[in-house]
Amino acid sequence: MSSQLVGDETNDFSLRPKYFDQYIGQTAIKHELKVYIQAAKSRQEALDHVLLYGPPGLGKTTLAIIIANEMQVNLRTTSGPAIERPGDLVALLNELEAGDVLFIDEIHRLPKVVEEVLYSAMEDFYVDIVIGQGPTAHPVHFTLPPFTLIGATTRAGLLSGPLRDRFGIVAHMKFYDQAELTKIVKRTAKLLQTRINDSGAQTIAGRSRGTPRIANRLLKRVRDFAEVQHDQVIDQSTADAALKMLHVDELGLDDTDRQLLKVMIQFYNGGPVGINTLAANIGEEVETLTEMVEPFLLQLGLIKRTPRGRVATFNAYQHLNLPYHKKD
Ligand SMILES: Nc1ncnc2c1ncn2[C@@H]1O[C@H](COP(=O)(O)OP(=O)(O)OP(=O)(O)O)[C@@H](O)[C@H]1O
Ligand SMILES: [Mg+2]
Repeated sequence: MSSQLVGDETNDFSLRPKYFDQYIGQTAIKHELKVYIQAAKSRQEALDHVLLYGPPGLGKTTLAIIIANEMQVNLRTTSGPAIERPGDLVALLNELEAGDVLFIDEIHRLPKVVEEVLYSAMEDFYVDIVIGQGPTAHPVHFTLPPFTLIGATTRAGLLSGPLRDRFGIVAHMKFYDQAELTKIVKRTAKLLQTRINDSGAQTIAGRSRGTPRIANRLLKRVRDFAEVQHDQVIDQSTADAALKMLHVDELGLDDTDRQLLKVMIQFYNGGPVGINTLAANIGEEVETLTEMVEPFLLQLGLIKRTPRGRVATFNAYQHLNLPYHKKD
C-alpha cells in the first residue's frame, strides 16, 4: 500500500482528540451524539448502542473514545476478528460495569456464532451459552449490566440485518471538507510544535483525500522535509515541494490511485471492468481497493460503479491528460 495510507501512527495517541470540543467536523453526528449523551447521563442510563461506519481514517475509533470520555465510563476495545468464540465475547462482557462502553472495531468481521450471542446481549442484557462439550455440555445464563456497544465498520453493507437493527444510533461518517482539514492540520502542527502558515495548512488539507489520518500523515512528512531544508515555517512552497516528492498530486491522488485509473483507461478502454481484475492488474488486495482507494475516487467523480464493473469518467481522462474517445 502507498505510504500515505498505512504506516506511522506511533505517536498518534497524543494527536487523538479526547473530547467533542477538540473533534473537528462531522458536525451533524457530533450534535446528535451530544444530545443522546446528555439525555442518557441525566437519566443515569447507558447510552444506546452506536454504529459508526465510513472509510478508514475518518475518526471512528477517536469518536468511540470520545463517547466513553463524555459519558465518563470505562472503555473496552476489541475487534471483530479477535473474538473467535462466544466464550471470548462473554469474558469481555463479564468485565463491564453498568454504563461502560464496549468498542468492537471491524464489527463486520465478527464470526456468525459470536454475532448471534451478541443479539440478546444488546437487546436484553443477557447471554445464554453452552459450556463444555459432549455429555458434560450445559447451558449457562448470564445477566449483564446495561452497557453500550459501539461498533465500527468501513462497510455497513457487510453487516447482517439483525445486527444492524440492534443499533439505536447509526452514524455515517463523511469525508471532511477543506476548511475542516485545515483546522485539523493546524491543530496537529501545534501538538507537534511545528510552525505552519495558512497557505501551508491549506495545501496539505487540500491533498488529504478528505481524511484526517492522511492529513496528519502528510503533515509529518512535510515537516521532515521542512526540517531538512531548514525551513522555519511550513508555507505553501514547502508543502508543494514535499508533496511533489511524495507523488501526491493536486487532487491528493497517489501512485496507486493514478495507476488504477490508468489501468482502467489504457487496458480496459475506461471500463466497465471488474474490481477483481483491477486488483490483480495493479497487485493490490480487493479489500484495499474497495475500502481505501475507491471511496475517494468515487467521491471525486473520477470513477463510477455500475452493475458490470467500474468505469472511469471523463474527469479521470482529463486528470491524467489522456485522450477521451468514449461516449459516457
Ligand atoms: N474529527 C477529528 N478531528 C481531529 N483529528 C481527527 C479527527 N478524526 C480523526 N482524527 C485524527 O485522525 C486519526 C485517525 O482517526 P481514527 O483512528 O479515529 O480513524 P478510524 O475511522 O477509526 O480509522 P480505521 O477505519 O482505519 O480504524 C486519529 O489518530 C486522529 O488523530
Ligand atoms: Mg479505527
